[in-house]
Amino acid sequence: MMEGTAAEYHSKDFEWEELRDEVENDASLRYHLVPFVASSSSSSPSSDPPPDDADAWRSFHRRHSAGKFFKERRYLLKEFPELLCSGNSIQVLELGCGNGSTILPILRAKESIVVYACDCSEEVLQMAKEIVATTSDVSLDHRLHTFLLDFTVHKFPDWLFCSSCQRASFSKPVNLSSDSREQKLRKLNAPSFLREKQCCIGGVDFVTLIFTLSAIPFQRMSSVIEKCFSVLKPGCLLLFRDYGLYDMTMLRFLPEQRMGFREYMRSDGTFSYFFSLDIVRDLFLGAGFTELELEYCCITSVNRQRGKKMQRVWIHGKFQKPI
Ligand SMILES: C[S@@+](CC[C@H](N)C(=O)[O-])C[C@H]1O[C@@H](n2cnc3c(N)ncnc32)[C@H](O)[C@@H]1O
Repeated sequence: MMEGTAAEYHSKDFEWEELRDEVENDASLRYHLVPFVASSSSSSPSSDPPPDDADAWRSFHRRHSAGKFFKERRYLLKEFPELLCSGNSIQVLELGCGNGSTILPILRAKESIVVYACDCSEEVLQMAKEIVATTSDVSLDHRLHTFLLDFTVHKFPDWLFCSSCQRASFSKPVNLSSDSREQKLRKLNAPSFLREKQCCIGGVDFVTLIFTLSAIPFQRMSSVIEKCFSVLKPGCLLLFRDYGLYDMTMLRFLPEQRMGFREYMRSDGTFSYFFSLDIVRDLFLGAGFTELELEYCCITSVNRQRGKKMQRVWIHGKFQKPI
């Protein structure tokens, strides 16, 4: 499920259009292409709210609490070198952080980076903290702040970017030192890393959505992207990587695992969606972002034991919040 080696750094081993033609001309794969019609026996007709996908992820993490899915995403800084070039005191928000595969390379990148990481599973947040604390020779964990959140249901906490600072950031520099009554009240719930007189961290410089958006039902994606937009400082970036249309893992799903168009449920109840470029573009531009980069990454790897060729498709995207 986790994708992680340096070899997965974005490259083009094959043309996506060639794979598309192959898949779309293969009669045995036709069920992936037809519009989705929920059957009467289906557990989730499209008009009903989707099943609790966050709960399925919590159970997943409980079952895999040994952390064996951890794989540091070493390619991440090659894909997103902006993380290295950015200035002093950089705040990154990693959504759906899992056991820290994305957190670790970002923390290693620069001492000036602080990572705020959320997930819906308490267990996996604990695991991520342990992995970050024990995997590196130098201490990184003081620059990691985790928090529990189901981002499909709840808003981001106010201490990330409160609404008065969001409004102010569009018109004038954020003033974090004014100590209004409202701010004092808010500070009662503020986490300990907020400095005295700070009502929030003033928004983040990067949001990372790395194999997280595909993990939630399609109908909830646009509201999550809007939340990401609201928490970014103007001019800052959302970094996106996720499963692409016709990735090998999509083609392995059986007809009865379809939950929607290009949307599947694994046997453990977790969701997986496979993105085309135009859907990603619609989702992010619809939330107000500007597109900087968007492409398929098509990589062939070989399963040596079975001698089988595997065609992997990922989407790489960079989106900016306009100034
Ligand atoms: C495939 S993992 C990706 C983890 C990480 N971003 C990485 O790079 O490895 C997806 C993560 O999203 C989390 N997740 C799924 N639905 C969520 C939700 N509604 N709210 C918060 N986290 C969620 C899961 O618990 C899981 O850890």
